[in-house]
Amino acid sequence: MSQEDANLEARLEEQEAFEPPESFVEQANVTDPGIYEEFEENWPACWERAADLLSWDEEYDTVLEDGDAPFYEWFTGGELNASYNCLDRHVEEGRGDSVALEWEGELGETRTYTYDELLDEVEDFAATLRDLGVEEDDVVTLYMPMVPELPIAMLACARIGAPHSVVFAGFSADALATRMNSADSEYLVTCDGYYRRGDALDHISKTNEGLEGVEHEVSDVVVVDRLGDDLDHELADNQHDYDELVADHEGSTVEPVSRDAEDMLFLMYTSGTTGQPKGVKHTTGGYLAYTAWTSRAVLDIEADDTYWCSADIGWITGHSYIVYGPLALGTTSVMYEGTPDYPDKDRLWEIVEKNEVDIFYTAPTAIRAFMKWGSEYTENHDLSSLRLLGTVGEPINPRAWKWYYKHIGDEECPIVDTWWQTETGGMMITTLPGINTMKPGSAGPPLPGVDARVVDAQGEEVDAGKAGYVTVNNPWPGMLRTLYNNDERFISEYWQEYSDEDADEWVYFPEDGAKIDEDGYITILGRVDDVINVSGHRLGTMEIESAVVGVEGIAEAAVVGGDHEVKGEAVYVYAIPEDGYEDREDELEEEAMEAVLDSIGPIAKPEEIIFTPELPKTRSGKIMRRLLEDIASGNELGNTSTLRNPEVVDDIADQVTSD
Ligand code: PRX
Repeated sequence: MSQEDANLEARLEEQEAFEPPESFVEQANVTDPGIYEEFEENWPACWERAADLLSWDEEYDTVLEDGDAPFYEWFTGGELNASYNCLDRHVEEGRGDSVALEWEGELGETRTYTYDELLDEVEDFAATLRDLGVEEDDVVTLYMPMVPELPIAMLACARIGAPHSVVFAGFSADALATRMNSADSEYLVTCDGYYRRGDALDHISKTNEGLEGVEHEVSDVVVVDRLGDDLDHELADNQHDYDELVADHEGSTVEPVSRDAEDMLFLMYTSGTTGQPKGVKHTTGGYLAYTAWTSRAVLDIEADDTYWCSADIGWITGHSYIVYGPLALGTTSVMYEGTPDYPDKDRLWEIVEKNEVDIFYTAPTAIRAFMKWGSEYTENHDLSSLRLLGTVGEPINPRAWKWYYKHIGDEECPIVDTWWQTETGGMMITTLPGINTMKPGSAGPPLPGVDARVVDAQGEEVDAGKAGYVTVNNPWPGMLRTLYNNDERFISEYWQEYSDEDADEWVYFPEDGAKIDEDGYITILGRVDDVINVSGHRLGTMEIESAVVGVEGIAEAAVVGGDHEVKGEAVYVYAIPEDGYEDREDELEEEAMEAVLDSIGPIAKPEEIIFTPELPKTRSGKIMRRLLEDIASGNELGNTSTLRNPEVVDDIADQVTSD
């Protein structure tokens, strides 16, 4: 490192606050600090600003209907179609030649779709789905990797009013079956396989295995051929080749179906405290308005930008900020199929340079990996097209924030650290890049119109600097409406904790811990339920536990998250072998790994499985998860005298540290 670089690093190291660069502010979409007050004074009418970004077939009568809280309704009486908003209207405005989707395949091939072309593809596939018998309100499951047919299928579903349920391609066969069963989904779009680091991965066998676990009849399965001759496979009677079906419907015109603002746009399953994933329901009007609004205000997206979110569409970030928000604004959305280190560790920067990306949105785990790889991978690429950077999915440590700021943004791009969840539909807590000072490590204030607070166990706001829990004390358009077919769980998961039902005061509890500072900036500390966050991916420890205890020979297990330098958190399993299995730990370990991969997928792969004759328990018999987390993270262990069996702690800790 040169002296100049060293001085720069030292200066950055100490700096705790950063102002948005002048050059950015001059052109930003939102620059008036008065917006916070304006939204507060005009709440909920302020949300008309979001609805105004959309084209409505029928104007709404009421912004917010709260008569049956917490089953809130937004923009009631309004009608619209999401695919029309993301495609047709841009074409009608004469922007049909602008690029909608720029797809980068892992092996270096590209596919570019203008708005005209994307609309054509969507109409052809919408006609195909209809022909197969898909009707309005039928849930179509999309179990697909990052191929262009995924957003095409989502928009085709939206066009005919069929909600989609996207299942992340990295999830296991079991996970697919659970989600199709839960949603009674009779249609599936999938893929023969995809490429990872140059290898062809078989996806269709996993799909077929999953289909065996579906309890109802599946009418049709459409299979995208991504691998060509790289994978031989046969299609069953109800399985069809995507290209062949679509060829029969080429040139179709499919009128977008007018959907009620509150009609379901999609379902997205996410992990919760119990073993069963939750089917989060998002609607057409509020969700689309909210993602369009936040894309504009926070990501500063303009129609003529090239914008890239490196998430996978299988998660909420990809839904809201690769597909719906950016396309509603008519921008160019980049979509990358593969991994950041293939063929080399500069792949993302090569894509930024080549496409002259203006705005880049990624996860802290990726930034920590880039940091580890070193700045030489960024240095030989021209990243000067970048104007704004964003992060999402997990807390970002100040060191990673500063690395991103310096090495990717060249100290000229604001960073938005956006806190939100599958359930919130879009961003909730973040700085507005044209207005606010940035404080590395702290997401920022709640967005205008969002009443997020940090409270204690009684719901009282905590003092600056004290840790508490995040709550959201008023509704917002992008919020989930319920959990699919489970209103009861919707209330118990999100509202019970802090609401006063008798007074009809409803408070949303996202189950995150946080701190707030004297300027109202919120620093998210992480989940306070049994959910862990591995590389920005949300995993339920109970789901993993039930997979592990399903292994013959394992009597009991506890799964916790331990700190991990790159992944943020990693999965640690503590397991007790049954009598007679104590000397077969290697076998049990292999089977437990296998069980986790089978029931969830490789993202949940345990970092370590630690066998122990006992788990540390309180006198009332509760497993001390906190202690297990500390052991996994290598933290100093506090007082263990309240345990029923303090002696097990040293044994377990020795095993973890000796590896
Ligand atoms: O704990 C918070 C963390 O991710 C959780 C939501 O996960 P999921 O529903 O999968 O959605 C991820 C993408 C929106 C939250 O409860 N989280 C998300 N963003 C941040 C974050 N933690 C800290 N800082 C963030 N910016």
